[in-house]
Amino acid sequence: MKSLTLVPLFVASLASTALAASSCVAFDSNFNLLAFNYGGKDYNAGTQDSWGSGTPTEITTSGRPKFDTDGVTCYLAQFYNAVYVLNADKSNPSSVYIFDAASNSWSTQSVNAGGPDMSSAVSILDHDTNVFYTMSSAKLWSLDMDPLKAKASSDAVTWNAVGTPTSFKADGYQPVMGLAQNHIHFLNTAGAGKADIFVIHFSYWQPETQTYSGPEFPAQHGQVASIFQSEGVQQEFAFFPDDGSGTFVINVENNSTRSLPGPSVKDAAATYAASITALVSSSSQSGIQYLPYSQNGDNSGAKWTKVEKLANLTPPPSSGNGNGNTTGTGGKSTGTNTAPGSKSTGNSSTGGNNNNNGGMKVGKGATAGMFGALLLGSLGVLLI
Ligand SMILES: *[C@@H]1O[C@H](CO)[C@@H](O)[C@H](O)[C@H]1NC(C)=O
Ligand SMILES: *[C@@H]1O[C@H](CO)[C@@H](O)[C@H](O)[C@H]1NC(C)=O
Ligand SMILES: *[C@@H]1O[C@H](CO)[C@@H](O)[C@H](O)[C@H]1NC(C)=O
Ligand SMILES: *[C@@H]1O[C@H](CO)[C@@H](O)[C@H](O)[C@H]1NC(C)=O
Repeated sequence: MKSLTLVPLFVASLASTALAASSCVAFDSNFNLLAFNYGGKDYNAGTQDSWGSGTPTEITTSGRPKFDTDGVTCYLAQFYNAVYVLNADKSNPSSVYIFDAASNSWSTQSVNAGGPDMSSAVSILDHDTNVFYTMSSAKLWSLDMDPLKAKASSDAVTWNAVGTPTSFKADGYQPVMGLAQNHIHFLNTAGAGKADIFVIHFSYWQPETQTYSGPEFPAQHGQVASIFQSEGVQQEFAFFPDDGSGTFVINVENNSTRSLPGPSVKDAAATYAASITALVSSSSQSGIQYLPYSQNGDNSGAKWTKVEKLANLTPPPSSGNGNGNTTGTGGKSTGTNTAPGSKSTGNSSTGGNNNNNGGMKVGKGATAGMFGALLLGSLGVLLI
């Protein structure tokens, strides 16, 4: 690697090793689990209470993206029951594909040139503003999706340059971005158990580094998924370090971290999504699994379990070996699969998610149900 001109090639080859997927998992606003581009098809697995058996509903339809890149990412626009899909077409890397989950239909939003390089960018979709924030080559950009809601416009949209971080050094930084409370938490900038913060509503780089109590999450590249609330903005996000050493849930209300089991297969190329009560992982090695989660429970018995309803779906292996052995500086993030918290149209007192078909609740009943499901899941594993 003496020649400078070789460096980009070198980075590119490592990047393809770390990148997952031409497929992604996401939730719709009713917390149905959606799986895009598994064997060229898209599926709806329903809500968490139904994942233990049965078959998913196929929702493949026209207008979907080609899903021919190595780094597709999906984001729920909770207010609009839409899933935005980025970097899903090699020949149109900047286009934003919009899946209207209410009507199972697609539209394609064209984007003017001059924005971030979407093939290497990492993004979050802000909960309250429905604006994408994307980091590429140490620079932050924003794209306002709010006027579009669940359908593309015939007019192209334009990225806005936000600027470079002033609170940490971003040169060569592989972004790890956790969204909660409309703040972007940049991990792996300031050491273990710490984050640097960008305050979205004030477009402000907070000068102070934030420290979290509890188990220290490692200073490492990884993936992030924001955890929904039954109502309002996210308060927690889950961090999955590339080495698979654990799952760390960071609570930005009380500045604490809790540690949960890492995914059953260490796969730096896995991708993630979260609802209120589940963290979901999609890996070419272990398929689609989930970790039941309770924000107010102790989660001590929680285990990763296969989503049986999607047992036949395995994302295609990434190019390269993608075996979780890519924690070095060359790894490229596949982006955060950040799910914004729910805008409640339901009852906060029930903690429900306004789902009329058995949605997850965050009360005691849900906790019991979850552990029931977990028990069944564990039994299932034992029986096999
Ligand atoms: C969390 O940290 C922030 C920033 O340091 C601070 O303003 C806030 O009071 C902390 N919250 C708690 C509950 O300590
Ligand atoms: C932080 O808040 C979460 C959610 O309410 C709670 O489960 C957790 O125990 C709290 N942690 C600390 C250290 O207070
Ligand atoms: C990483 O890869 C090297 C060489 O292929 C192998 O020897 C090593 O055991 C791997 N480490 C992990 C954590 O997989
Ligand atoms: C649910 O919401 C409705 C309409 O807002 C309200 O009338 C009702 O009291 C709520 N139920 C509970 C249990 O909070």
